[in-house]
Amino acid sequence: MALRPARAYRHTDLTTLGKTELLEVVRSQPIPEHIAVIMDGNGRWATRRGFPRVAGHREGVKTARAIVRAAEALGLRYLTLYAFSTENWSRPAQEVSTLMKLLERAIRSELPDLMARNTRFRVVGRPNGVPAAVRQGLEHVVRETQHNTGLHILLAFNYGGRDELVDAFRVLARQVQAGELDPDDVSEKHIRQALYTADIPDPDLLIRTSGEMRVSNFLLWQIAYTELWVTPTLWPDFGPADLYRAVAEFQRRTRRFGGV
Ligand code: FPP
Repeated sequence: MALRPARAYRHTDLTTLGKTELLEVVRSQPIPEHIAVIMDGNGRWATRRGFPRVAGHREGVKTARAIVRAAEALGLRYLTLYAFSTENWSRPAQEVSTLMKLLERAIRSELPDLMARNTRFRVVGRPNGVPAAVRQGLEHVVRETQHNTGLHILLAFNYGGRDELVDAFRVLARQVQAGELDPDDVSEKHIRQALYTADIPDPDLLIRTSGEMRVSNFLLWQIAYTELWVTPTLWPDFGPADLYRAVAEFQRRTRRFGGV
């Protein structure tokens, strides 16, 4: 199908466009630099089909792979995926251990592809408490991809937004205690630099799947002015066209950052 100039789509119902048209539309305008995603709904996807919850997580891994490719096609700089929160430890032990193995294996098996596509992989979250084999597997991929300059994937793993702030305040408290920082000089810049995401721009867009209207302790400092986009689609059913639709809607919004 022949594509029309992107401006011709300005008033179009985005749900009527396919993946290729949507990509064309969003690429014709400035795209966000950083998209963060709360990947929710794996469990419900599986339960509705009569499968065990881990089957949903397996499908979720396939979706993550497709969304990384779609983000690359878009030319995105940073993609943050909320894979395992500090609250997720309270799930049944069997689900937690399967999830750990699944995530670690998925990342490790992606390594040749990450290298081939110049993709950098990083982890944000507390390394303490993660099983050693999983931690070492992730660290290996982080190390191998550290000089890649394409898309940065940030995996939020054993991540909690409040924990991140606690860790940042501890860093600052130590600097004050050592006489390196005057409490009266503490600014947003100091707090930002003490976060796990110190050198990464705040997300422009936060996508949440499966319809919940919550931020669930995700990037609490960083999303102060982030645009939110929630879809009822469950994560395993989320595809590149959904990502592009979210970006197209983002492009239609006016960000005011507290101004008029
Ligand atoms: C959300 O569904 C799923 C998770 C928080 C688990 C981790 C995500 C994946 C396995 C996707 C793949 C990610 C990567 C980066 C390889 P849920 O279990 O909270 O679903 P529910 O709300 O329906 O129970």
